[in-house]
Amino acid sequence: MVADAVSAAGRIAILGAGNIGKALATGLAASDHEPAAITLTRRQLHDLETLAARGFQTTTDNVAAVRAADVLVIAVQPRQLAELLAEIAPVLDPARHLVVSVITGVTIAEIRTALGASVQVVRAMPNTGISIRESMTCLAAEPGSEHALAAALPLFDAVGRTLVIREDLMASATALCACGIAFFLRAIRAASQGGIEIGFHPDEAFLLAAQTAKGAAALLLNGPAHPEAEIDRVTTPRGCTIVGLNEMEHRGFSSAFIKAILASAEKADKLYVANSG
Ligand SMILES: NC(=O)c1ccc[n+]([C@@H]2O[C@H](COP(=O)([O-])OP(=O)(O)OC[C@H]3O[C@@H](n4cnc5c(N)ncnc54)[C@H](OP(=O)(O)O)[C@@H]3O)[C@@H](O)[C@H]2O)c1
Repeated sequence: MVADAVSAAGRIAILGAGNIGKALATGLAASDHEPAAITLTRRQLHDLETLAARGFQTTTDNVAAVRAADVLVIAVQPRQLAELLAEIAPVLDPARHLVVSVITGVTIAEIRTALGASVQVVRAMPNTGISIRESMTCLAAEPGSEHALAAALPLFDAVGRTLVIREDLMASATALCACGIAFFLRAIRAASQGGIEIGFHPDEAFLLAAQTAKGAAALLLNGPAHPEAEIDRVTTPRGCTIVGLNEMEHRGFSSAFIKAILASAEKADKLYVANSG
C-alpha cells in the first residue's frame, strides 16, 4: 500500500541519478536507509561506480528498478522526463508505487497524465544540502493525496528540514531553496575573497567565512530570532559593522539578492515548457 511504501517495504529507486539523485542517495544512506535497498539508474553507469562500491544497487534498466521498488524518485532533467515516463508507465502499479518528482517546473497533473490518473504523485524540491542531511525540502501533493504526502515526508525528514506547501508555490521553493543554496555559497565565496584581500590565507578566509555563515544561520534556526534583531546586536554606533553593512546596501546587496530570487522563480516556472518545446 502506498501509505506504507517508505516505512515498511522501504525499497527506493532513484531514476536519473545525477547531481540531486546521488546527493539524495548519499543523505539517505547517512540516515537509517540501507544502501542495498536503494537502486540508482542512469544511462552512463560508470558515473555510479563510487556509489555501487558503497553498496547501492545501480542499473541502466529503469523498468527493472521500478519493478523492484515501492518509492520511485524521478530526478532526470525536465527535457529528459517525457521519455522516462513513457518507459516506466506500463510497469507502474498505482496500488503499490509512490512517485516522488524532484523535477523543476513539471506539475503533478502533467506527470499523472503521462503515468495514469490513479498513480500517487508527490512533488519535492530539495537542495544539495541533502547529501549531508541538511536539505530544506518543500513538498506538495494534490488535494486528496494526503496519504501519499504522509508516505513521502519521512524520506525527506531523514535528510533535513521539510515544509509542506501548495503546489503553485513550487517555483518559488525552487528559487529560494534549490537555487538559493548557490546564492548563499556565492555570498560565502565573496566574503572569503574579501578576507584574502585583508590578509588571510585563502584556506583560512574560507573557514572564517563559512563558519561565520553557519553561525548566522544557526542563530536564526535555533532562535527565536530575527535577522534585524541579531544585526542590531552587532552594530555599535559609529562602529565598523554598520559602516560595512551600509556599504553593502549602497552597492545594492539586498536588492541584488531579492532580484536573484525573483529571476530564478520566473525561470523555474517556465523550465519545462522551454525544454519540451
Ligand atoms: N541539482 C539540484 O540542486 C536540484 C535541486 C532540486 C531539484 N533538482 C531537479 O532535479 C532534476 C535533476 O537535476 P540534476 O542537477 O541532478 O541533473 P543531472 O545531474 O543532469 O541529473 C539527471 C540524471 O538523469 C540521468 N538520466 C537522463 N535520462 C535518463 C533516463 N532515461 N534514464 C535514467 N537516467 C537518466 C542522467 O544521466 P545519464 O546521462 O547517464 O543517463 C543524469 O545523471 C532536475 O529536474 C532539476 O530541476 C535539482
